Amino acid sequence: MKRDFLKIYDFKKQEVYKIFDTTKYFKSLRKEKKITDNLKNLSIGLLFSKPSTRTRISFEVAIYELGGNPVYLPFQTTQISRGESIKDTAKVISRYLDGIIIRTYSQGELEEFAKYSEIPVINALTDLYHPVQILCDLFTIYEKKGSLNNLKITYIGDGNNVCNSLIEGCDLLGIEIRISCPEEYMPDRKVIENIKNKNLLKISSNPEEFIEDADVIYTDTWVSMGDEKETERRIKIFKKYQVNKDLLKNAKKDFLFMHCLPAHRGQEVTDEIIDGPNSIVFDQAENRLHCQKSILAFLFSSISY
Ligand code: CP
Repeated sequence: MKRDFLKIYDFKKQEVYKIFDTTKYFKSLRKEKKITDNLKNLSIGLLFSKPSTRTRISFEVAIYELGGNPVYLPFQTTQISRGESIKDTAKVISRYLDGIIIRTYSQGELEEFAKYSEIPVINALTDLYHPVQILCDLFTIYEKKGSLNNLKITYIGDGNNVCNSLIEGCDLLGIEIRISCPEEYMPDRKVIENIKNKNLLKISSNPEEFIEDADVIYTDTWVSMGDEKETERRIKIFKKYQVNKDLLKNAKKDFLFMHCLPAHRGQEVTDEIIDGPNSIVFDQAENRLHCQKSILAFLFSSISY
């Protein structure tokens, strides 16, 4: 039976650790400039209705280096943009491709696509979730810290798709997660209601509250794709959530600073933090490639790796 990756909970905890182990393997292979044949003779589509630098490039390269054929499908060049139904498109695409990676607005539409698709579907970002990002980020923390036990992660800023998936990722793996967001930009209510480890989640609107003992401090843009009309208003509301030297004056010496990128320097983070010694944002971006290879290999698990 096909496996989709539409949200973090589509994987079990032990599967995530298996994916992390394989990520280390793919990362070491790439240092030796070796490619594999995990996706040999398989064509994987990338249906994107929003811009992307990291997700698109890292997935295309990952598919190529696993021996597969990436097929980039900008949404506006397909008949979906002229009204062809999700159902018909999913059924047709299943006859040509072996898997599909989708970046779109609505999680509901993505789930509808997956329902009618006969091939694995991967969520490359919706308005609700960014699970691939967070799985790769949790790998980066695991790699840097050696373990995910007894860590405290603090997320500051907009309670957006990245934040929602981070909450679910921490819930799945049993990591303490603290969220500082303005009252009107809190994470999705259902995401909070559905987590199992309620004792591991703390939420505040005070940006200073969860800094002191944080092992990881994570932020993201204040204006996600689709929120542009609210830009001016958001910049005013989020101003005190900027990750800067002053906010982090009591942070641990060895905290890790993370940002999924693209960053809006001078808004959610200052240059001195994103370019500073605690920042791991470019290692984080690189690991998208290695970890996504592992996700692809896992979902096409009839292929040994
Ligand atoms: N972080 C992330 O998803 O980056 P892109 O929008 O460039 O893919």
